[in-house]
Amino acid sequence: MTDLAVLGSTGSIGEQTLEVAARFPERFRIRALAAGRSVAKLAEQVARFRPELVAVADAAGARALREATAGAPVEILHGAEGLEAVARYPADVVVAGLVGAVGLRPTLAALRAGRRVALANKEVLVMAGALALREAARAGGSLLPVDSEHSAVFQALAGQRREDVARVILTASGGPFRTWSAARIAAATREEALRHPNWKMGPKITIDSATLMNKGLEVIEARWLFGLASEQVGVVVHPESIVHSLVEFVDGSLLAQLGLPDMRAPIALALAWPERLPLALPRLELAALDKLCFEDPDLARFPCLGLAYEALRGGEAAPAALNAANEEAVAAFLAGAVPLPAIPGTCAAVLEEFLGRPAAPLRDLDDVLAVDAWARRAARERLAAKFGAAEAGPPPALSPRGELA
Ligand SMILES: NC(=O)c1ccc[n+]([C@@H]2O[C@H](COP(=O)([O-])OP(=O)(O)OC[C@H]3O[C@@H](n4cnc5c(N)ncnc54)[C@H](OP(=O)(O)O)[C@@H]3O)[C@@H](O)[C@H]2O)c1
Repeated sequence: MTDLAVLGSTGSIGEQTLEVAARFPERFRIRALAAGRSVAKLAEQVARFRPELVAVADAAGARALREATAGAPVEILHGAEGLEAVARYPADVVVAGLVGAVGLRPTLAALRAGRRVALANKEVLVMAGALALREAARAGGSLLPVDSEHSAVFQALAGQRREDVARVILTASGGPFRTWSAARIAAATREEALRHPNWKMGPKITIDSATLMNKGLEVIEARWLFGLASEQVGVVVHPESIVHSLVEFVDGSLLAQLGLPDMRAPIALALAWPERLPLALPRLELAALDKLCFEDPDLARFPCLGLAYEALRGGEAAPAALNAANEEAVAAFLAGAVPLPAIPGTCAAVLEEFLGRPAAPLRDLDDVLAVDAWARRAARERLAAKFGAAEAGPPPALSPRGELA
């Protein structure tokens, strides 16, 4: 029996994790769940999976959840303490399925408690890759990738000698604007940006996929997960999302992992590794494929990908600044306050300003949070100055749900 704790259980990754677990009840037990504001959904999960501990974003949510689960033997916590309690709960695998910087503390807490972390929440490694690896090494915790690209690389690397790896090549669908002109992208609406051609995901990652920032964040994630230099992580656009990524070895051989785009496959692998679960998902029929296409990414139309490489070359702290600027700009775009080009524009300006400051080492979590806070302030000021976007408090719910049909 594998005990699971799921951070972000009401999100796209969280719900698919619970679906995989429910298919193998003799194999997985749900011990603890954490989510933000989807109290009704969480109450249903409590009734179905009977976890012992549940956490929600705030006290009002906790009260509402207590009412909705009256009589259920479950401890209900809230806020940062609640998230960390779920992350540290004695489970075999902690699924990091929160979105954005809010996942940093709990994921570090899980690693510090020596847990195996199935990592979807890529922003954690973007913000604090070195710190996360240090915490994991110190406490015996480990990271298993959930992102389909990193899962593909992880699988292609299995049994290989690290010194034989020349580079990894992450595939990118190209998002909904792959064939659009720069002018058309500049005028894209929120609904158009949320219409991803191949994947149904939460809103933040869907916007990141439209700007290719998602691929940039994944480049940084790959650097830490696989111990690579930035020039060893390449990106190729592959609109069909069948080849999930590749590893190139020193002899020129490429090993790839293929499958239909379905996150339940990499989630299941991260939950059960090194076993593979007999998932009854639709299979890839090679003969039914028309063609597989590959092209170079266009950094002129999608500058966010180039910014991620620049941040990676800019030292340990620069990716944290880029991530914070991106989160702020994406939240403003999702709130309808700014146009799409505000995202690369804000990220570029904040990164440039950050790189012009004296280099700051990231010794601990406080250092990371200081960079994050500085970059958020800089991004908000710029958004307000340029677009009149309200200098709001926290981004308008990191999970405004339901935009996708
Ligand atoms: N979705 C995918 O297919 C996919 C694929 C690869 C990687 N990823 C990565 O996985 C992560 C999750 O993505 P997603 O698409 O699953 O996002 P999502 O659908 O928006 O779900 C986010 C989850 O985080 C919770 N959350 C947000 N803010 C919170 C807060 N302040 N306190 C507590 N919980 C909070 C949400 O709770 P409520 O909804 O209850 O507020 C929800 O459960 C992201 O880092 C993304 O890049 C996702």
